[in-house]
Amino acid sequence: MTEVNHASKIAEIIEAYPVDQRFALAAMQDMQHAFNYIPEEGLAALAEYLGCPQAQLYSMATFYKALSLTPKGEHIIKICNGTACHLRGAMNLATELKRDLGIEPGETTENGEFSVELVNCLGSCALAPVMVVDGNYHNKLRVEQIPGIIESYAASGAEEVTAND
Ligand code: FES
Repeated sequence: MTEVNHASKIAEIIEAYPVDQRFALAAMQDMQHAFNYIPEEGLAALAEYLGCPQAQLYSMATFYKALSLTPKGEHIIKICNGTACHLRGAMNLATELKRDLGIEPGETTENGEFSVELVNCLGSCALAPVMVVDGNYHNKLRVEQIPGIIESYAASGAEEVTAND
């Protein structure tokens, strides 16, 4: 997305809401959805639109885990580190991802392709360990399956990948 498109998309998102601070979170969620993060200029534009301090929006954005102020990768990999997944080797999955992508949980690859996150229980404990890529669940995952999964997302994009469970 070019910078002009960026700015017009931000304006479109913000102006869809009434000038009321109750809609700040919804507008930020929309920006997160549109850009995979909340751009600095989006936060500034929203603060101006709502007539509130940017610091207030910044606090909200850092409080909610679903919101990010830094760009995330095109593909989001979530490793469940809830109790069941942890006991069944979640951290071994993280180690393999580090080997394959060169990043730790919380980081994004330099080419902006992948972000890795450690998350709490995803509600599929019976199928632990669980890794979710772009919303697709990879259950009872074995370390040796990871390189193939990464490769398929890198090669074809999320739409064409089917989760294996
Ligand atoms: S602990 Fe991983 S799905 Fe529940």
